[in-house]
Amino acid sequence: MRDGLGRPQTVLLLGGTSEIGQAIAEQLLPQSGTLILAGRDPAALAETAERLTKARRQVATLHYDALAPAAATVDLLAVAAARHGDLDVVILGVGTLTEETALADTSAVEKTMHTNLLGPMLAVHATAARLRAQGHGTLVVLSSVAAVRTRDGLLSYGVAKAALDLYARGIGESLRGSGARVLVVRPGHVRTRMTAGLPEPPFTTEAHEVAARVGRVLSGRARVVYAPALLGPVMTALRLLPAAVYRRLDAAQRRGAPLEQDQRPTADRHRAAASLADERRPR
Ligand SMILES: NC(=O)c1ccc[n+]([C@@H]2O[C@H](COP(=O)([O-])OP(=O)(O)OC[C@H]3O[C@@H](n4cnc5c(N)ncnc54)[C@H](OP(=O)(O)O)[C@@H]3O)[C@@H](O)[C@H]2O)c1
Repeated sequence: MRDGLGRPQTVLLLGGTSEIGQAIAEQLLPQSGTLILAGRDPAALAETAERLTKARRQVATLHYDALAPAAATVDLLAVAAARHGDLDVVILGVGTLTEETALADTSAVEKTMHTNLLGPMLAVHATAARLRAQGHGTLVVLSSVAAVRTRDGLLSYGVAKAALDLYARGIGESLRGSGARVLVVRPGHVRTRMTAGLPEPPFTTEAHEVAARVGRVLSGRARVVYAPALLGPVMTALRLLPAAVYRRLDAAQRRGAPLEQDQRPTADRHRAAASLADERRPR
């Protein structure tokens, strides 16, 4: 339940190791409250929980895999609420970014669509049902500017985000009058492990800036926000560009920096980055 000033007290992060998700959770629960991290990698979750725990902020972990059947997500939400009470904010931070050229076989496309679209859609549906039953709460869905104008090199990712964005907005509409709400957040390029090594387009931002934007709009009435805000008019303009012009712009931007993207699962990249940091640490 929110405190007397309307600040959230219990936050659930689906994709408990997401860097943007963690930044939003820290923004919403700066000192106290309960943060529940739900993810698929127990070791990474435990490390994240230890790092985010504070004297008055408890951090719990739960298993969540976006590839699991729908019932598992429904159960996860029930367990989170049974253990920690009403969920004030649920952040949906699951996603993988894979260049289209790396999706060589059809089953790779299936997996990326399951991770970026089907799993998150089921999470939106299950969370909306729970928040509606509670009569309050906000679901923050991490969409992307890719939902507005999909890039050739990230076709499956963009299609998944566009469909998820549309679905989340539709479910948000169905919640009108229930006390619950969906907030769709469309970040541009954010410096996290997901984008490590990719060319940085204009308006590249940091996870804590996305979090600050969410913090500013959470108690308002907005249903869709861009991060940074300036991307709103920029994306409106880009959307109107003829396909050939957009493609040339996109290609020019992609030539601007190394295109070599690490295609390992995020958890593996995370472990590799941690061990590299370890090697570099002075002894
Ligand atoms: N970074 C950007 O530029 C950017 C821009 C716009 C939108 N977004 C979106 O923002 C969200 C968070 O991204 P981020 O930058 O914070 O990246 P991140 O740190 O790589 O977070 C991605 C999260 O998705 C989780 N995940 C992947 N597959 C999963 C599965 N099958 N089941 C459960 N969890 C799974 C990862 O868990 P593991 O640790 O287990 O891999 C990780 O917690 C994503 O939806 C992303 O598409 C990011």
